[in-house]
Amino acid sequence: MAVVWDMSQWTQAWRTDSLQPTVRWSGTRTTTSGTNMYGRTAGGANQSVTNGTSNSGANSGGGASGGAQGHDKLKIGFCTDLDKSVLVNNFEKRGWHQVNGDDDWHFYWAGVQTCRNIFSVDSGYRMHDNQMINHFPNHYELSRKDLLVKNIKRYRKDLERDGNPLAEKTESNNSSGTRYLYLDFVPTTFVLPADYNMFVEEYRKFPLSTWIMKPCGKSQGAGIFLINKLSKLKKWSREAKGPFHPQIAKESYVISRYIDNPLLIGGKKFDLRLYVLVASFRPLKAYLFKQGFCRFCTVKYDTSVTELDNMYVHLTNVSVQKHGGEYNTLHGGKWSVQNLALYLEGTRGKEVTDRLFGAISWLIVHSLRAVAPVMASDRHCFECYGYDIIIDNALKPWLVEVNASPSLTSTTVNDRILKYKLIDNILSVVLPPDGVPDVRWNKVPSADALGNFELLIDEELAAQDEQHQNSSSNTHSKTSKMGSRWK
Ligand SMILES: Nc1ncnc2c1ncn2[C@@H]1O[C@H](COP(=O)(O)OP(=O)(O)O)[C@@H](O)[C@H]1O
Ligand SMILES: [Mg+2]
Repeated sequence: MAVVWDMSQWTQAWRTDSLQPTVRWSGTRTTTSGTNMYGRTAGGANQSVTNGTSNSGANSGGGASGGAQGHDKLKIGFCTDLDKSVLVNNFEKRGWHQVNGDDDWHFYWAGVQTCRNIFSVDSGYRMHDNQMINHFPNHYELSRKDLLVKNIKRYRKDLERDGNPLAEKTESNNSSGTRYLYLDFVPTTFVLPADYNMFVEEYRKFPLSTWIMKPCGKSQGAGIFLINKLSKLKKWSREAKGPFHPQIAKESYVISRYIDNPLLIGGKKFDLRLYVLVASFRPLKAYLFKQGFCRFCTVKYDTSVTELDNMYVHLTNVSVQKHGGEYNTLHGGKWSVQNLALYLEGTRGKEVTDRLFGAISWLIVHSLRAVAPVMASDRHCFECYGYDIIIDNALKPWLVEVNASPSLTSTTVNDRILKYKLIDNILSVVLPPDGVPDVRWNKVPSADALGNFELLIDEELAAQDEQHQNSSSNTHSKTSKMGSRWK
């Protein structure tokens, strides 16, 4: 099924909201110099103290190590469930020392289950002001495949009910009703078994479509398969005591329209892995790491039915591809996003390339806004998400899924460098300038502290700028215009 993407609609979307694509990706361009997207310098001092011997005079009051006054003697204890060198090397570089989860810790890089345990009512654990942890307790609202779609559907409906122009709809190009003009960035998806009847209705409208079945609770390509016939789904259901069996209702699946027209490079399908750091959900403060990468399939793309079960053709997960005979351990099937930008500028032109990356930032921001109201936005938490995005051959980006624990395993040398930098930059964005975890900090990192992150959205700064704009006679100041971005 060909999907035609009308670029002009995105252009209109930018206009509707006075938006411009903000993220600069091309390796040939530089990042913001000392100012954030609101045209002002964020935060105050540069990060100067990273070894726990700050002389900033900030008051730690009641830290994990028992209410130290000031950070002068606060030695930072880190804890991690993951034995990853990119983590431990970064923590040790900052002069932190490793402790156990039962000890006093200031910074915990935890697995999702540990985080949930800490926040569970039963644990009785109460965090101190000088403690930070790398997950929001109900991150699954974003990272579970079924909940992500549910939240996005609800978000669009809410905007529609409020008469928000963002929820504008248009006749679909395949005359099957309507679609959202600006918020159509997840493939049509149903949850099985719950939405089975709705799926069948949709299937009958597009009998030639291919669908992809994905277990909600799994990752790394596990349990995924493609179907192009309802009979195949029924057969699977019978054999697996499938999705209609109430006992496995916990093992639910999503079934999504398969993006069958991906952008191909060298004849191969790829997707993007982008890192998005959320420092707070309410107000929303999110940053995009500019060094994401493309993950390529090892086998040329082929839509023929005989290749439908060939996961080396269809799934871009490294965990899948590395088992293929064609896997290259030197480059690991990865390409930097800067390379992609240069390639696209060369083959498709700069304007459409800029528009594509603008549309990617757009979908990230709106996916976060969709879950923000339901997230437990605890001030001790931050989270780095791995976004999986497929670009189709009309250069429209599609959000495939969001991972709350993106892999920190390094498959190549470049990978290790990238992930080390990622962790380093995460730490400098989420920690106050003196490097000591403190939930009372206003979470406005300096331009230097951003490193390779670029601000996607800071609702607090935007609101301040708006206030400033209202009280200022110069209503056309640059800052004011930029401050209304993403609204
Ligand atoms: N709707 C889709 N259309 C095309 N390819 C898809 C779609 N959904 C997933 N894929 C492919 O399958 C891979 C795995 O899917 P994903 O949702 O990321 O699950 P997992 O948690 O197993 O990584 C993706 O990286 C992508 O290559
Ligand atoms: Mg994935």
